[in-house]
Amino acid sequence: MATRKTVLIIGASRGLGLALAEEYCGRDYQVTATVRAPSAALDDLAERFPVSLEIETLDTTDPASIKKLKERLGTRIIDTLLVNAGICLAHENTPIDADVEDFVAMMVTNALSPMRVVETFEDQVPPRGVIAVISSELGSIATNRGFWELYSSSKAALNMLMKCFSQRHAGDPRAMLLIAPGWVRTEMGGSEAKLSIEESIPLVVTAMEARAGKPGLKFMDRHGDRLPW
Ligand SMILES: NC(=O)c1ccc[n+]([C@@H]2O[C@H](COP(=O)([O-])OP(=O)(O)OC[C@H]3O[C@@H](n4cnc5c(N)ncnc54)[C@H](OP(=O)(O)O)[C@@H]3O)[C@@H](O)[C@H]2O)c1
Repeated sequence: MATRKTVLIIGASRGLGLALAEEYCGRDYQVTATVRAPSAALDDLAERFPVSLEIETLDTTDPASIKKLKERLGTRIIDTLLVNAGICLAHENTPIDADVEDFVAMMVTNALSPMRVVETFEDQVPPRGVIAVISSELGSIATNRGFWELYSSSKAALNMLMKCFSQRHAGDPRAMLLIAPGWVRTEMGGSEAKLSIEESIPLVVTAMEARAGKPGLKFMDRHGDRLPW
């Protein structure tokens, strides 16, 4: 009997992370999804998929919390490691008027912490596995049009850190992905966003599945098309 593929989704209490958990359950993966605090929506999903979905606790900005999850998961194989957790603060602000705390919080949550999660769990991802972090089109320096400046900077920093990670792992057979899901209607994306969650997430998962077994780093959109750095 073939073993089911496994995915660890970091930040699945709501929004895109919750939808990613649902999508992977629907594709018959064994899903481990994390929350910072109990999520009624993820609990409901676990009731619908009691065999497929297991819920763990993790705050990506807390090294002790990362260590605890590492200990709990042991040496379990993670076919897809997917870091989704992110925040957007002060999106109307510019460097002159933003609170330093908001900028630092985004840099820590959106750039440093996802990479600490990647560094911690990457040894559990097999050669044909996928190491993925949710980035954003706004993280592209080449195409940015001055929108949500501070948030965009944190995603550009994430892209750079993932690039450096991939350089340190030259010759690694695993797919390393920075994925832009599109502008999606969630608490972060807001009601004006172009896409519904259903128009984004199935494409994101299909694009990630298509990269399994293909080595190297790719900054890509939900269709799997390469984005300019
Ligand atoms: N929506 C868009 O248009 C869009 C576009 C491009 C990229 N993205 C990226 O996609 C990802 C998900 O966005 P979203 O739209 O679903 O946002 P969201 O609705 O605001 O959800 C954010 C998720 O991240 C979690 N999170 C935040 N900080 C965390 C931390 N320190 N540790 C663990 N979990 C944490 C939240 O958990 P809590 O419930 O505990 O707060 C929540 O599950 C983010 O990385 C975002 O930057 C979104």
